[in-house]
Amino acid sequence: MVVIGGMEMDERKERVHQPVLAAEVLDAMRGERAPESLEGWIIDGTLGAGGHTRLILEAFPKVRVFGIDQDTEILAIAREELAEFGDRVVTAHGRISRLCALCGEIGLESAIGVLFDLGASSLQFDRPERGFSFDADGPLDMRMDLTRRRTAADIVNNWDEADLADVFYYEGGERRSRRIAAAIVEARRRVPFQRTAPLADVIAQALGGRSGKTHPATRSFQALRRTVNAEGHQLQRGLRIAEHVLANDGRLVVLTFHSGEDGACKRYLLERAREGHWQLANKKPLGPGHAERRSNPRARSARLRAAIRTRGADVSTPCEEFPE
Ligand SMILES: C[S@@+](CC[C@H](N)C(=O)[O-])C[C@H]1O[C@@H](n2cnc3c(N)ncnc32)[C@H](O)[C@@H]1O
Repeated sequence: MVVIGGMEMDERKERVHQPVLAAEVLDAMRGERAPESLEGWIIDGTLGAGGHTRLILEAFPKVRVFGIDQDTEILAIAREELAEFGDRVVTAHGRISRLCALCGEIGLESAIGVLFDLGASSLQFDRPERGFSFDADGPLDMRMDLTRRRTAADIVNNWDEADLADVFYYEGGERRSRRIAAAIVEARRRVPFQRTAPLADVIAQALGGRSGKTHPATRSFQALRRTVNAEGHQLQRGLRIAEHVLANDGRLVVLTFHSGEDGACKRYLLERAREGHWQLANKKPLGPGHAERRSNPRARSARLRAAIRTRGADVSTPCEEFPE
């Protein structure tokens, strides 16, 4: 049995992330053009297991993909999954915020498309040892990039009560954030949190126990994950770098899974469109249809925004202008 990234092949095949809004992503990349007419680099800033990249490579025969991911375990899976495409795929470990420098390292000056499929992969959620899940006990980690130091446990055990409440409110949309923060601070005085299950229990108790389908810790866990991985900051940097690296008429496609994230993307694109840098491809975000909602629960909250670069890449700007 072949083992990749700690996962056996059979297990991996079962769990390979199902690409969200697949047809919509391809349509948004293509616009009105014939698939064969697309030529050049498309950047997949959130490669994951390579689901969207595979579709892009199959749909557009003259396109090459530069795929990056901050998770080395997932990157190993993607490399294996995409090996058949040979040098049409180049991959690198890194965060979206380093995309400018990473492009420089492979000599990629401008791209015809950029894709961001944000958030965590089911390959991360479904592995309790990565610490993203409130359903299955695991270490309180939540780092997508295991080379980084700060874990969810560091935040939960060390941040003061007001800062914790802000995290739950602003990053998770949790209205009862103060109550949760107070319960965490009280509990950690006795025993610091090291595992996901005790944290999920404390949050559930603070909110009066479990009722309904959604676990009471859902929003708080999302907030912690977003904070550990600086997801808001990564999106801001990514949008700015996409503007830098896209050629004239290049397409940006962003998939978000959180209303705050969709709002941030919308505001950025609207503001820069007013200044003439982008043309919005869709005024309202696209979401999944009934069939996809049923077959892929992760797709339910997905929102797709797409925009066309109107002025072309300003490659004269050095990457130092895009600090991480
Ligand atoms: C939703 S999954 C992408 C799935 C992929 N589109 C597919 O179809 O297989 C998101 C991936 O992006 C990575 N990721 C999230 N934020 C990132 C960032 N700021 N920089 C680099 N990779 C990131 C995660 O590690 C994860 O593997």
